[in-house]
Amino acid sequence: MAVSISISPPGAALSTAPGGPLKGRLRPPGDKSISHRAFILGLLTVGRTEIRGLLEGEDVLHTGAACRALGARIERLGEGFWQVDGIGIGTLLEPRETLDFGNAGTGVRLMMGVVGGHGITAAFDGDASLRKRPMRRVLDPLVLMGAQVLSQDEGGRCPIRLKGTPEPLPIEYRTKVASAQIKSAVLLAGLNSPGRTVVIEPQASRDHTEKMLAHFGATVASEPFEAHGRRITLEGRPALHPAEIKVPADPSSAAFPLVAALIVPGSDIVIEGMMMNPLRVGLLQTLLEMGAQIELINQRDEGGESVADLHVRASDLRGVDVPAERAPAMIDEYPILAVAAAFATGETRMRGLSELRVKESDRLVAVADGLAAAGVESIIEGDDLIVAGRGHDRGVPGGGVAVTHLDHRIAMSFLCLGLAAKRGMAIDDAAMIATSFPTFQAALAGLGAHFS
Ligand code: S3P
Repeated sequence: MAVSISISPPGAALSTAPGGPLKGRLRPPGDKSISHRAFILGLLTVGRTEIRGLLEGEDVLHTGAACRALGARIERLGEGFWQVDGIGIGTLLEPRETLDFGNAGTGVRLMMGVVGGHGITAAFDGDASLRKRPMRRVLDPLVLMGAQVLSQDEGGRCPIRLKGTPEPLPIEYRTKVASAQIKSAVLLAGLNSPGRTVVIEPQASRDHTEKMLAHFGATVASEPFEAHGRRITLEGRPALHPAEIKVPADPSSAAFPLVAALIVPGSDIVIEGMMMNPLRVGLLQTLLEMGAQIELINQRDEGGESVADLHVRASDLRGVDVPAERAPAMIDEYPILAVAAAFATGETRMRGLSELRVKESDRLVAVADGLAAAGVESIIEGDDLIVAGRGHDRGVPGGGVAVTHLDHRIAMSFLCLGLAAKRGMAIDDAAMIATSFPTFQAALAGLGAHFS
């Protein structure tokens, strides 16, 4: 079966209201970051890669379609079970049509790395949200390696035409911001380099690309750099061997039922198989500091990642100060943390959030506006977000409409808020939820949540 992409109807409003406690068990979908990389490394490996637990969200399916356009054969064998017949490094086909990544920043940036390191030309585009996102951060190192940007929209934005180089120069590149997407694009381009590619990041970002490359047989080393950074070294032109991939549950998706259960009184749920990669568990650490009752049970290793089941009970949360150094380990979780903070007693300050301005939406503004619509005060002070928690006594009024700006995480965050706010909460558009957590509504309804 070919990769199929289901595009949800735009503009579907949705709302939640408080009901009874959330109860039961759920397994969140497969990790989005790992799922993108599974398709990409499948393409770059000669032979058959089998993937289990793949996230079948629109973002990942767009990446799958792009991998097919570059020469991979991709088939769905069952729910979350996919097989990729790759053609290997150095032999990719030139795509005939524009590669459309929809809403997916990870997909487009990683695939720019793949194309940038091959002697092919490709056009990259996406939806209105993706067209606003900065791509220069990825194009700059690729140009240093020898790729050429043939055309781009103002400020280095999509649509972009990129001419890759068949002989990428081995470079040592220091990323200016902590971004796994930039790091991964450079490493993926470096795969076809005759030499050694080095990426130095000021703060460690998620390491799924490095880990998966090693799993496929590449020589890749990662060592500490200064206080919080890493230095990653990849030997070019490795012989990659097909390897099985088991995708663990996405902590960024688990974050929604997790916080929902903490704020809806009387809730008691178990979240199964959540990935516990240390570079992804900043939210868990922060919630524990806020006094959340979360018990880690059955910690184990699954497919090379540590995973655990989380027993979560409704909790009285208190405001905390979240240090800027923690941002890379919870970069996608600030919208839902802001929701938890709204129900906490006292103020929560989240520091160093400049990267939130260039996500699927300007998340700093989208979160502050959504909180205001729910009757919760917050302020943006430089790159910090400060939420004035309402605590149990006052509660969160709710009753407003959060504007989601084509951003799935804003949509899910405010639907979770509505489950515990006095007058519920609405969002203007639920369509984008399908990019990362297509089963969100059914999964939460299964725990007892009410949507209308
Ligand atoms: C991702 C990296 C992060 C994150 C995104 C997924 C990845 O972006 O926000 O959702 O899979 O590499 P940055 O690398 O730009 O911080």
